[in-house]
This record gives sequence, C-alpha cells and structure tokens, in this order.
Amino acid sequence: MFEQVEAYAGDPILSLNEDFQKDPRSNKINLSIGIYFDDAGRLPVMNAVREAEVELTREIIGRPYLPMEGGADYRVAAQKLLFGADSEVVTSSRIASVQTLGGSGGLKVGADFLHTYYPDSKVYVSNPTWDNHRALFEGAGFTVDTYPYYDPATGGVDFDAMLTTLSGLAPNSIVLLHACCHNPTGVDLSQEQWAQLIPLFRERKLIPYLDIAYQGFGDGIDADAFALRALAEAGLVFFVSSSYSKSFSLYGERVGALSVVCASRDDADRVLGQLKAAVRRNYSSPPTHGARIVAKVLGTPALRDAWEAELASMRERIKNMREALHAGLTKALPGRDVEYFLTQRGMFSYTGLSPEQVDELREKHGVYLVRSGRMCVAGLNQGNVDAVAKAMAAVLA
Ligand code: LMR
Repeated sequence: MFEQVEAYAGDPILSLNEDFQKDPRSNKINLSIGIYFDDAGRLPVMNAVREAEVELTREIIGRPYLPMEGGADYRVAAQKLLFGADSEVVTSSRIASVQTLGGSGGLKVGADFLHTYYPDSKVYVSNPTWDNHRALFEGAGFTVDTYPYYDPATGGVDFDAMLTTLSGLAPNSIVLLHACCHNPTGVDLSQEQWAQLIPLFRERKLIPYLDIAYQGFGDGIDADAFALRALAEAGLVFFVSSSYSKSFSLYGERVGALSVVCASRDDADRVLGQLKAAVRRNYSSPPTHGARIVAKVLGTPALRDAWEAELASMRERIKNMREALHAGLTKALPGRDVEYFLTQRGMFSYTGLSPEQVDELREKHGVYLVRSGRMCVAGLNQGNVDAVAKAMAAVLA
C-alpha cells in the first residue's frame, strides 16, 4: 500500500524555513518567510495583543464551538478594518464575512464557494504571485493561469500588458489581485491603475478576488485598503481574503477572514449561508483564541490606538531597513541601480537575484532568500543589514 504515493517536493517557502532552522551556522540570516522580526531579530508580541490576552485570561469562559462563520464581534471588526467603519457596504450589511484559518483559509473557503457556482471559470493570478495562490485554487478544482504583472526591465508593473490580458478574459473569470504590499515583488498598482481596472472588471464581468495579508505594512491601514474601498464604492461584487497573522504578529493562531461584497443584503445573507456550508465541509468551525484577541484590540479604543502606533513603528522600521540596504549596496556596487528597494512596499522585495545567485547567497553566506529572488525585508535589522549588503554585493559582483 502507498507505493504510488509520491514524495512531497516541499513548499518553496515553508520547507526553506525548515532548512533554515536546521542550519547550524551561527551567522545565518533568515530573509525567506514572510514574518516580521524586530530589530533584535525576535518575533514580537505586540503590546496591545499582550494586554488583550491578559484581559481575556481574566475573563476565563467556557469554550463552546464557535458558529461556522466565527465570532460575531470579530467579523464586524474585520469588516470595519477593511472597508472603514462608516462604509456603505458595512452599514447596509452587504458583506458576507466568515472568520477563517488565516488568509489561506479565507482563500480556500472562497475558492470552494466559487467552484460550486462557477465551475467553468478560470482563475488568473499575477505573474509572479505568492506560491500558494495557485495551489489553493487548483486544489479547489480550478484551472489557474497568469496575467502579466511584474516587468523586470523597469522593476515596475507592466500595466499595459496586464490590461490587454484582462480585457480578453471570458466573463466570470476570477482575477486574483494583491490589495497592497504585493507578494513576492513589493511592487503595487497605483491608485490611478486601480481606477482603470474598475470599469474593466465591470464591463468584462470579471470576478475580482483581493488578497490583503499586509494591511498597515505599506503606507498605513487606510491607505493600504484603498483598492478594496474603491471597488466597494464603485458598486462591484468581489471577494476579499484578509489575514491578521502579520499585522497582529499572531501567525500560529491562524486568524483571517473572507468577505464577499454583494449587491444586496439579501444576496449577502444567502452567500453567507453557503460560506458556512463550505466551512463545515472543510473544518467545521474556526478556533476561538486568536480572533478573540483581534476583536478585543480592535474594539477597545486604547488598545486599538496602541496597536496602530506599534504597527506604524513596524512599517517605519521596514522602510529604514530598505534605506540601510540600499545605502550598503550603493556603496559596495557603485553605479548599480538598486533604487527599487526604496520604491517597493511592504515586507517583500524582488531582488532580481537568479535562483543560482540565491543558492550561492545561502550556501556561502548563510543568507536565506526564496529561490525566486524574493527577500523578506522585515528580517533585516541594524545588526545584520551590513552583512546582507556585503553578501549580496559579493554574489552580484
Ligand atoms: C510568505 O509569503 O512567506 C508568508 O505568507 C508565509 C507563507 O505561508 O507562505
């Protein structure tokens, strides 16, 4: 039995992170997985999260199953954080939201729902995208293709090619987009480009599916939600998968949400029912702890202020590290254009390193990047950035 079971090739991000843990070198540096580390290289426990957690342990309560859709306070808090508390889509109850197992859980529940109602649709992801996007949608039964996105020649978005491809898609095609802090490139669409996409989505009857896992890490909580708020204001029907792993530093708690913005409250009620059915078929109901923390922080003004301030300082620290890396590389490699480290946004940068250069960086210098050339800038700190700049310069020279 099981002779036919193939060996798992591993996940390009998670398996690399496992390799890093096993690496015995004391000078190793992990810039692979998308996790924010502080300037001392530690995984932070945010102060607001710690306080919320202490309060929650004082209020020890029984732990019945949560409903399939998750905690009510959490779901409302997630909607308000995404769309703004006064947004019409929130106040008119046009959003069907479920608490999910991180952003991946949100993507999967939405993919299962869509496959039930649009089994013949194809899914289009940006070229490149987060490695698990393709796997999640293929796992739900879809054929997944790409649309042009990153242009290595300019280090920006090949927006004309993207528009041309999206203009040719069949109605009900599902278009997966990164709302901010594009993973893996760090290259985002501008507000003007989003404004051009909105009529296209409407005219071509496409189904936008936005992934927002880094709200607050780009330009701010509201600025990073620009795209979904613009789509909502334009009256589009669309999907949003959100994650609180990074913005609350609650990775292992698996806290996320799926929100489907519908045309009416009646539609949203029925969609919510079928999302609940999709949750029941996958894992029955979500866990309590992480979502209670997030709801407590977002629902308590003092904790929310403290959380926003700490998230802002994380965002600033990443920007400072971008500047420090840029300065180190400019010094080591005068004349080489590394401006993109400053213009890219969020946790990630596409370094332009080839897979072979990434291997050399890991093997010779103990610096871990994903083989696509993606660097997690949030793993840099004052203590390692010079070493990383020197190692990169040695590999690039
Ligand atoms: C990443 O992109 O590194 C993170 O989102 C972690 C993951 O699950 O891949």
